[in-house]
Amino acid sequence: MEQTPQDDIAFHQFLTWLRQRCQLDWSQYRQEYLKRRIESCMATMRIPNYGEYIKVLERDPSQLQRLRDGITINVTEFFRDATTFDVLKQIVIPEVAASKQKAGVGLVRVWSAGCATGEETYSIALSFLEVLGADLSGLWLSVYGTDVDEECLRNARAGVYGGQALTNVPSPLVEQYFVAKEQGTFTAGEKLRSLVHFQQLDLIHDTPLKHVDIVFCRYVFIYMSRELQESALRAFHGALNRNRFLILGRTESMPVHLLDRLFASVNPEERVYRKLTEGS
Ligand SMILES: C[S@@+](CC[C@H](N)C(=O)[O-])C[C@H]1O[C@@H](n2cnc3c(N)ncnc32)[C@H](O)[C@@H]1O
Repeated sequence: MEQTPQDDIAFHQFLTWLRQRCQLDWSQYRQEYLKRRIESCMATMRIPNYGEYIKVLERDPSQLQRLRDGITINVTEFFRDATTFDVLKQIVIPEVAASKQKAGVGLVRVWSAGCATGEETYSIALSFLEVLGADLSGLWLSVYGTDVDEECLRNARAGVYGGQALTNVPSPLVEQYFVAKEQGTFTAGEKLRSLVHFQQLDLIHDTPLKHVDIVFCRYVFIYMSRELQESALRAFHGALNRNRFLILGRTESMPVHLLDRLFASVNPEERVYRKLTEGS
């Protein structure tokens, strides 16, 4: 979208309004980042301009929290919600692997939708390596990390993380699948990299992936209107192979009626679901 000087003026007026009326001072944030984030929030709620956004926030102050979440939206970590990854390792991966082997099909496809800087995507690949071993029991694994934010994806592709970021990664996995670099950083090693693929994909506008065995979409819904949440759930249902798994964020609110119609719960606390086939 081409930016005009009026857009910049409206953006700065909006920031002043936030500071004066809502005591939200974001002057320490990088302005380009902030603008991109606020406009992305507006787009998900189909708000056409800053003037309209002010009216929405005046009418419904709870939307301020949503905007705040929108600004810190890239927050992520390796093995975020360890208990969810336990269910992945104890239930989901063994079932998917066994059924692929039984059917004589070698390819497992996983979609990490809204992957931010890649920690979730690498954590999924590491979980398969941990459960199945370095040879993945002969399976071919592709974990697709997608996000709307190209800057995040650049970091994800680079695969460089500080030692602190790897705190949740078990040491044997760090030793086997990361390479220590200068100044205490680590880079994802070749084997790990060969399992992940990052691409830009906007969950609102772009065509979803197809034929996947597991969809992870965690802490992305917080950002979307109910209408968009429903269309994302339908897209994930269409993306999944028969009987396969959807894993959502532990603490997100969801359009439950639609969720219950499209998916059966496998573990409600960890928000792990199984695709119901149409009509079942
Ligand atoms: C809070 S992060 C969650 C990262 C990871 N899933 C996790 O749980 O740690 C949310 C991510 O969703 C992405 N996102 C927001 N709206 C999106 C959209 N419409 N399409 C794709 N990604 C989106 C953001 O750019 C951000 O990187």
